[in-house]
Amino acid sequence: MSEFHYQNGEMFAEQVSLTQLAESVGTPAYVYSRSAIEAAYQEYAEPLADMPHKICFAVKANSNLGVLNVLAKQDAGFDIVSVGELERVIAAGGKPDNVVFSGVGKQDHEICRALEVGVWCFNIESIPELDRLQDIAADMGKTASVSLRVNPNVDAQTHPYISTGLKDNKFGIDIEKADEIYLRASRLSNISIQGVDCHIGSQLTSMDPFLDALDLLLALVDRLAEKGIKLSHLDLGGGLGVTYKNEQPPAKADFIKAVRERIGKRKLSLVLEPGRSIIANAGVLLTRVELLKHTDHKNFAVIDGAMNDLIRPALYGSWHAINPVIPRGGEEQVYDVVGPVCETSDFLGKERSLCLESGDLLAVMSAGAYGMVMASNFNTRGRPAEVMVDGSKADLVRRRETVADQLALECLPGEKACF
Ligand code: LLP
Repeated sequence: MSEFHYQNGEMFAEQVSLTQLAESVGTPAYVYSRSAIEAAYQEYAEPLADMPHKICFAVKANSNLGVLNVLAKQDAGFDIVSVGELERVIAAGGKPDNVVFSGVGKQDHEICRALEVGVWCFNIESIPELDRLQDIAADMGKTASVSLRVNPNVDAQTHPYISTGLKDNKFGIDIEKADEIYLRASRLSNISIQGVDCHIGSQLTSMDPFLDALDLLLALVDRLAEKGIKLSHLDLGGGLGVTYKNEQPPAKADFIKAVRERIGKRKLSLVLEPGRSIIANAGVLLTRVELLKHTDHKNFAVIDGAMNDLIRPALYGSWHAINPVIPRGGEEQVYDVVGPVCETSDFLGKERSLCLESGDLLAVMSAGAYGMVMASNFNTRGRPAEVMVDGSKADLVRRRETVADQLALECLPGEKACF
């Protein structure tokens, strides 16, 4: 049973009434289920229990401290792409020696901090980045553990904006150049080569692109071993899709089984960087209908949530289920569910059959991943509150942002000279 379910005609998150929660923290608010997060994490951890592995949650999918803390307590590792994400992991109780640092544009100060706290591995995406890491590590008298992110030129068959493993994409090192760059890296004094990495895209609903990429990586691992470069881990990135509507992504256990079969007897530890498949379906965006607007052409349900709170529909045309917290028995009408922001792309759902009255609560489903992390202050709207539900308990894990919070960062010309 989903952790978001109906009980006596009302939607609950675990044992918490979403109606009561909305009264207490207001709307819009992101609501996460602790047990849904733990269950999704365990679906990765259990089939890997008898082999060396690290499951590094992709912090970019949801970086709330409460979410990271729940995962740290499961012994998760973390995949980060900025020093900000690193500080979040540390603040949430995660261990730096379980952190893999990804990203095409790591800055000097970010590399310094990562070396200082001792992150486990840097995923390197280019020669200039490798040289930069060598120089900084040498200055600091440290050795950096490294894996090269290769670009296997595999079509992930997903939305073009979230496809990352094709030659044209900015990510990774061309797989044809990888052997040469490994040899170069192996001669650097402050670099310790540990692994190979790839991440071909997000929201993949078929296993084939993963396995195609894996075959190419394994062939590289074998070639390098012949040249005396022995890798100890293989990082297959994140990307496993989830069901938003009627997608049927592979089950995590089946995915891991297929990956393990291909790895075979090689002495490699398996690293994964899942984001969406851990947190997407563990969160909803709770929002209230402000008013219903009927025109000759369309019906609009104007809600208090908007594209600044959840940008996925506007940015990728993504579909999220929108369900009433207390369904009404009457006749449904077809609505575009829109926010108050001044953009035509400000919709969370189009042509949804709903029976609504103003003041009703709606839950925008599967909103746990790439929701709050992509929220903005467009139209000077404060970002939503975030709540972590655990059984019958609900903790505010981020308070709602106020206008005062936003104004606090700004000054009038003449108040603060730059130099
Ligand atoms: N590792 C790397 C290096 C990544 O770039 C990503 C996601 C992940 C892991 C996690 O992938 P996941 O398991 O979540 O698919 N904003 C978009 C998704 C962007 C994904 C970017 N990279 C969306 O809302 O669909």
